[in-house]
Amino acid sequence: MTEPARRPFGRTPEGERVELVTLDNGILRGEILTFGAALRTLEVPGRAGARVDVVLGYDTLEEYLTRDGYLGAVVGRCANRIAGGRFSLNGRDYALPINDGPNHLHGGVQGFSRRVWQVEELEAHRAVFSLFSPDGEEGYPGALRARVEYRLDGTALELRYLAESDRDTLCNLTNHSYFNLSGHGSGTVLDQELCIHARRYTPTDENSIPTGELAEVAGTPMDLRSPTPIGAHIGEDFPQLVQAGGYDHNYVLDGPVGTLRPAAWARSEATGITMETATTLPGVQFYTANYIEAGRPGKAGAVYGPRCGFCLETQIFPDAPNHPAFPSAVLRAGERWEHMTRCRFSADEG
Ligand code: BGC
Repeated sequence: MTEPARRPFGRTPEGERVELVTLDNGILRGEILTFGAALRTLEVPGRAGARVDVVLGYDTLEEYLTRDGYLGAVVGRCANRIAGGRFSLNGRDYALPINDGPNHLHGGVQGFSRRVWQVEELEAHRAVFSLFSPDGEEGYPGALRARVEYRLDGTALELRYLAESDRDTLCNLTNHSYFNLSGHGSGTVLDQELCIHARRYTPTDENSIPTGELAEVAGTPMDLRSPTPIGAHIGEDFPQLVQAGGYDHNYVLDGPVGTLRPAAWARSEATGITMETATTLPGVQFYTANYIEAGRPGKAGAVYGPRCGFCLETQIFPDAPNHPAFPSAVLRAGERWEHMTRCRFSADEG
């Protein structure tokens, strides 16, 4: 293990200093920005030990500030959409900022992905970031303290989330990394194989809001229960895929919520890299970078575009506050919102 490192990465327009933290456990190497606690780089061993950077990112803070897409960021206070920005809690109605068509998306205009996090703890293999979100920020009730730990544990990257609030509120934290197991600048992920351990998913309406149904994946192109190239069915004339321009759906993970259990598996033939994702959370948003425009400049001269990465955003289901039958996104005052997601990497020699 090497010494932990941190270096300046510019200033926000408000003058806040942003840093870049480097973690290295001799197997994995990761870089995390304090802006959005965003994972900028994740190098994992590929065939013959060659390191491959498997997440999309940018070279400059300017790009993180001005481009959409939430690359690598920790998203909160409430990930994904809330219909019309409206919900009720304890008999009171709340109206959140609208920032995606008619809906509230990913915590609002200045969600956690656009805040500068504090580095609380730093060792070669782990970093803890914290954030204080005041009562009423982006319309949410309660002052909330969030903490996210990135930990390199052997061949795995673990993210441990913790949040507490002084009033009842909503909480749904995720990480919005775009993975490309052939390398972040290698083009589309259509030939990479993916498996999601879910028998059901939550279909959405034309504004990407769940209809409330938990639909069976069986017999549809949404069925990813066995390894399937991401591109195998993405272009099919299936209304859910056509409407979203590809995959952009929450899968209802099999197995007990709150227990670390397999969520997904992905593999690149080009590098031999396999990623196995496990989580304690109830769902995972599988998103194929449908809205990243062609020709977008990325890190180190890379060029990104639609389908150049896939997100596996472990989460409570979108619009949960308006669907009493979904697992709840309510965080009660004084209780702890505690979840964990782990991505384990391995490489075969092909
Ligand atoms: C959402 C997409 C959205 C994207 C933004 C995903 O989590 O499901 O609909 O466009 O985030 O990058």
